[in-house]
Amino acid sequence: MNDVLKNIEQIRSEALKAIENVTGAEALERIRVEYLGTKGRVTELTRSLGALPKEERPAAGQAANKAKVEITQAHKEALEALNAAKVSAPALDVTMPGRRPALGHRHLIPKTMDEICGIFAKLGLSIVEGPEVETDYYNFEALNFPHDHPSRDMQETLFVGDKLLLRTHTSPVQIRTMEKTKPPVWIVVPGKTYRRDDDITHSPMFNQIEGLVVDEGITMADLKGVLTAFASAFFSPDTKIRLRPSFFPFTEPSAEVDIACVLCGGHGCRLCKGSGWLELLGSGMVDPALYGFVGYDPEKVSGFAFGMGVDRAAMLKYGLSNIRHLYEGDLRFSRQF
Ligand code: PHE
Repeated sequence: MNDVLKNIEQIRSEALKAIENVTGAEALERIRVEYLGTKGRVTELTRSLGALPKEERPAAGQAANKAKVEITQAHKEALEALNAAKVSAPALDVTMPGRRPALGHRHLIPKTMDEICGIFAKLGLSIVEGPEVETDYYNFEALNFPHDHPSRDMQETLFVGDKLLLRTHTSPVQIRTMEKTKPPVWIVVPGKTYRRDDDITHSPMFNQIEGLVVDEGITMADLKGVLTAFASAFFSPDTKIRLRPSFFPFTEPSAEVDIACVLCGGHGCRLCKGSGWLELLGSGMVDPALYGFVGYDPEKVSGFAFGMGVDRAAMLKYGLSNIRHLYEGDLRFSRQF
């Protein structure tokens, strides 16, 4: 009899002590299984009482039951205490060193856009924007592209509906601005443009910056002066430019503007294919026909316009071999700028 009661008392006190010293929820669960689980020591003990002589059973049963109730109660209280501690523990340890967020930086394209616009802003041009989805009227017609004229093919584009298209250049903003404002107009227009082109120097989506200056007495010398100032600010101080005859329906005369090769300085190399020059942009004197569309008096004002590829300018300035580097999102590329 004594042995059984002693055994019960030992299990009881061991269990209560273990619960009292418990430090975490997992340890507490282990204790519960050890004593109260289906194969636990208290459960086994209760089961074994049946084997006792009849007269010993009531006292032993009572003691075992009391031990079980006490252990169960102690376990319940310990569990509650642990849960309460979890809730009231500070969610934020303000003494811990902070985690520094990884700071990114701007992509080369918007950076180049800003730099170019900044240079023209210093020369007195304001920044204007226009829609990327354009009408045939603004993208072609009011820019003097005759219907079915082959010059439209050079800017083959993506139509998004009848007479609605993704603009092939930023030139439509020339018309939109002149329609809305009286001369003088001194603007640059940064923005995305779209064409059905795709190779190592052309991407179906690219970026342009348009320039338009319409004022009294503007000549081609002003065009050359503004672009020379731009080239020395953007590339290097004594970058030479040259104007080459060209054609655009909305400028007359028109000129392709080249800069002296950024790699060889004009002697001829692989980059400039031996010519010493790199093509930078299209430009010209605003064709007076445009003034007819916007109600300007061609006898009073004259102007020049240019359209520069931003991606191309960035490629030339940083010596990029493939335009796709600009769009692939590869951090090994982006981090270099
Ligand atoms: N819009 C022309 C192009 O994208 C460039 C240009 C702009 C030419 C302004 C002349 C004047 O090819």
